[in-house]
Amino acid sequence: MVDADAAEAERLRRMLCDSETLFFTVHRAGGLAEALSLLEARRFDAILADVGERGDAETANLSKLLAQAGETPVILTTNVYEKARALEAVRAGAQDYVQKSQLNTNAIERILLYAIERHRARTRAEVQYAVSQVLTESETVPQARVRILQLLCEFLECSVGQIWDSDGLSGNLTRAEWWHVPSRDYSHLLSVSQGMCLKKGTDLPGLALSNGEPAWLSDLAPYSNLPHVAAALQEGLRSALAFPITLGTEIFGVMEFFSAERRGPDEELLKVFTNIGNQVGQFMAREMAEREKERLTKEHLLILDSTSEGIYGVDLQGSITFINRAAAEALGCTRTAVLGQNSHSSFHHTHPDGSAYEAQGCPLVRVLTTGQGCRVDDEYFWKADGTGFPVEYSAFPIVKDQRITGAVVCFTDIRERKQLEVELRVAQKLDAVGRLAAGIAHEINTPIQFVGDNAHFLQDAFRDAMKLQGKYAQLCQESEHGPVSERTRAEVKAVIEQIDWAYLQSEVPRAVAQVLDGVDRVATIVRAMKEFSHVDQSADKAAADLNKALESTLVVARSELKYVADVETDFGPLPPVVCHLGDLNQVFLNLLINAAHAIGNVVEETGSKGQIRIRTRQDGDWVEVDIQDTGTGIPEEIRDRIFDPFFTTKRVGEGTGQGLALARAVVVEKHGGTLTFDTVMGKGTTFHVRLPASGEPAARGAAAS
Ligand SMILES: Nc1ncnc2c1ncn2[C@@H]1O[C@H](COP(=O)(O)OP(=O)(O)OP(=O)(O)O)[C@@H](O)[C@H]1O
Ligand SMILES: [Mg+2]
Repeated sequence: MVDADAAEAERLRRMLCDSETLFFTVHRAGGLAEALSLLEARRFDAILADVGERGDAETANLSKLLAQAGETPVILTTNVYEKARALEAVRAGAQDYVQKSQLNTNAIERILLYAIERHRARTRAEVQYAVSQVLTESETVPQARVRILQLLCEFLECSVGQIWDSDGLSGNLTRAEWWHVPSRDYSHLLSVSQGMCLKKGTDLPGLALSNGEPAWLSDLAPYSNLPHVAAALQEGLRSALAFPITLGTEIFGVMEFFSAERRGPDEELLKVFTNIGNQVGQFMAREMAEREKERLTKEHLLILDSTSEGIYGVDLQGSITFINRAAAEALGCTRTAVLGQNSHSSFHHTHPDGSAYEAQGCPLVRVLTTGQGCRVDDEYFWKADGTGFPVEYSAFPIVKDQRITGAVVCFTDIRERKQLEVELRVAQKLDAVGRLAAGIAHEINTPIQFVGDNAHFLQDAFRDAMKLQGKYAQLCQESEHGPVSERTRAEVKAVIEQIDWAYLQSEVPRAVAQVLDGVDRVATIVRAMKEFSHVDQSADKAAADLNKALESTLVVARSELKYVADVETDFGPLPPVVCHLGDLNQVFLNLLINAAHAIGNVVEETGSKGQIRIRTRQDGDWVEVDIQDTGTGIPEEIRDRIFDPFFTTKRVGEGTGQGLALARAVVVEKHGGTLTFDTVMGKGTTFHVRLPASGEPAARGAAAS
């Protein structure tokens, strides 16, 4: 209370003391100077001031007082009430302007109470706003928390603030951040707190933690048995307040403040603290989620980098958003160089034959537009240095909130696998030739044997003919010197009879024909073997006659087939097919041997021979080869597995399960064709091979599915 009139001041003080609902502590200053120094020394809830009579002095005094009072509400009291003055004073910053003679206990109590409450409400809103601002501006949790401690210490006029973090598992509290007014260092309290581990329910922070709501000690003295309170008392601190940092039902920690004054609980303030505790809790939860996300991102990158598959991601425009180590190595680039670049124009711009690969045809574009994943078996990726390599890749969309935001591509360099496939095909072919060798030897042996027999016969016949020729020479000589003797004539006749010349005359041409036929048959087999074992050296396909190829394959396989089946061919006219002939021969052989085995199983039971029918036809741009058998048929339950590598139903040594897997790789992947089958149990199976005569499937990439 500022009033030069002591009697008047005393009257007002009594009025205040008469209040039954509120308790006032009044400090009086006799003049402005005294008031200013009082304000400097301590804080007041409100100021009742009579700053003199109307005039410049009053205005000047008022502004000095308001400046010193800061946020504290100032109510001007006067002996003479004037409307204009009142308005002027309120405009200058006073809360109210009242005529002293009109005041009574009720009125002054109400005026003060309202002013104080208005002021408190405003500062509470301000502090809450300031806390929100600190939280949005801070980058880290510790930084935010220290700034909030400072803010709240200043708002509460507290000297020290500390934050205690709760260990989620045990619920124990340990001190994390602290702040104190710069005028003192409070090192004793801070170092005692530093080493403490407070259990739930113990000490002031432990209490706030266990109750989940603010706790207030308006006088620390009775709690001096608590080491941390004892340290605060030693530092001259008198009261303390603690409130939990919460998110829903979870409590992350506790904020604690010490004041040098004894102060009782303020219900409204406690509500503010509950709110602030919540705000800080939300911030911490958000930060924790961010950190977790960061950790997961790092972990994902580590996982991505540990795989040998190349993996990269693209956004909707096809620009690279991430790339793993294996991909960067395989593509001969650095991560920083390709991030943000278009993946198609970086790695996928050209077909293996050197023609441009239009982006519209890229399977990845389809994935990004349709949202359907794809797997591509045989395409080329290009390195930064201009060299390419064959890849197998899959691309799948990244979908967020039901919208496609990009795609992930996983690829494998299949150079080595391709090489192995070639080696495997050669090995399988050699294996087949080896397995067929005994049969082929037998096939060659028969004609060779009768070539031999006939040659021996011709040798004998020639010797006999030479004998006859000798006699004829004698006869000719004799005739030159006169008539031929009867004896010589008889001798010639005897030789003709002895060597059975008539027989030789008819048999020698037949023997020669048989020799030629035998030689021809051997030559056919040898040629067929040579054609069959043709290994495609070049990477390029070449035009070939598939009917001829089937014929040679049949010759090679004859010994495997002829005991179980009669083979019937129905070859239609075919255009030349651009292909890797050696590989297709192997496919036909595999299908024929499978047919023979399937029929063999039937023959074992029935004893009667089966039939293999080979039919070729042209169908527009395509060529069809059907290989039909009267074997067992393929049981329903294995139909979708027969093309799997190493799937076999045969005994060890009879089959390895690679025949059809290889056939499909050759027909579908290498030639863009199809390999399908129809089968009826007990009747037999037909495999259909369809190949594009051009050697290229109609639409590029159609094999990708
Ligand atoms: N024409 C067919 N009739 C009945 N079953 C067949 C026929 N062709 C293939 N199969 C079945 O499919 C399986 C797989 O055939 P595939 O040619 O891949 O391997 P395999 O013949 O068992 O061994 P490999 O060909 O490597 O010597 C065979 O084991 C057989 O059960
Ligand atoms: Mg087979």
